[in-house]
Amino acid sequence: MQSRLAIQRDAFRATWQVREATGGCRSMPRATIERGFDEEERAQVAALFWQAFSGKLGRIMAPEMRALKFIEKALRLDHALVARSDTGRILGVAGFKTRHGGLISGDFSDLARVYGRFGALWRGPLLDLMDRQLKDGQLLLDGIFVDQDVRGMGIGSALIDAVVSEARERGLTEVRLSVVDTNLRARALYERHGFLPKGREDTGIFASLFGFHHATTMCRPVDRR
Ligand SMILES: CC(C)(COP(=O)(O)OP(=O)(O)OC[C@H]1O[C@@H](n2cnc3c(N)ncnc32)[C@H](O)[C@@H]1OP(=O)(O)O)[C@@H](O)C(=O)NCCC(=O)NCCS
Repeated sequence: MQSRLAIQRDAFRATWQVREATGGCRSMPRATIERGFDEEERAQVAALFWQAFSGKLGRIMAPEMRALKFIEKALRLDHALVARSDTGRILGVAGFKTRHGGLISGDFSDLARVYGRFGALWRGPLLDLMDRQLKDGQLLLDGIFVDQDVRGMGIGSALIDAVVSEARERGLTEVRLSVVDTNLRARALYERHGFLPKGREDTGIFASLFGFHHATTMCRPVDRR
């Protein structure tokens, strides 16, 4: 695994504006988005992931202690774009999936180590249902989450821009994502960033387990600069 220091060579930086409740703008103290995070930050990133997605994954990945243990181990440092404050605090993360893997990559044995063999047997196929296959030329937005204390300040937008830049740097032509029917605000955010709906996946009989009925696939072409 690469450490953050090791990959800082290709790190890029972004600044953004903080939107105040009044709708006004003020400059945010310099904040950065970099690829990757440190090994010691795994628990912190896992906790933010769980804060954002336990509503969706809670029934399958509970109990929380085990979920956090699994996520912490399965996180891939090199498939994350991380927004940090000036003090180094992690504010948000955008995971991305390429042909080489995604933000979370655990197999049956990783699941079994945490949940036991039986626990892994039923969780594995359900988690696989959430897995998305890549098409040629695509980069998949594989989970974007911002610390709930700092949402609505533009960090998610900056991370989306960073994901598009990541795709461009890799010579890819399209960014794809899935957004669930219950997450209307996230969908509005993606539409503002040029993503268009391209398809729909139904959860069918698993709707009550996942807490949503369908997810919309959205795509955005990557403009060349
Ligand atoms: C979606 C998310 C990453 C956006 O990050 P952010 O830093 O709040 O995004 P920005 O400040 O750039 O933009 C705010 C916009 O995000 C959208 N949004 C979605 N969920 C939101 C939330 N819980 N709080 C604030 N904004 C949210 C809204 O469209 C909002 O615009 P609005 O203020 O006009 O309603 C963040 O809210 C989050 O982590 N949510 C939980 C995880 C999640 O749902 N991820 C997306 C899965 S598809």
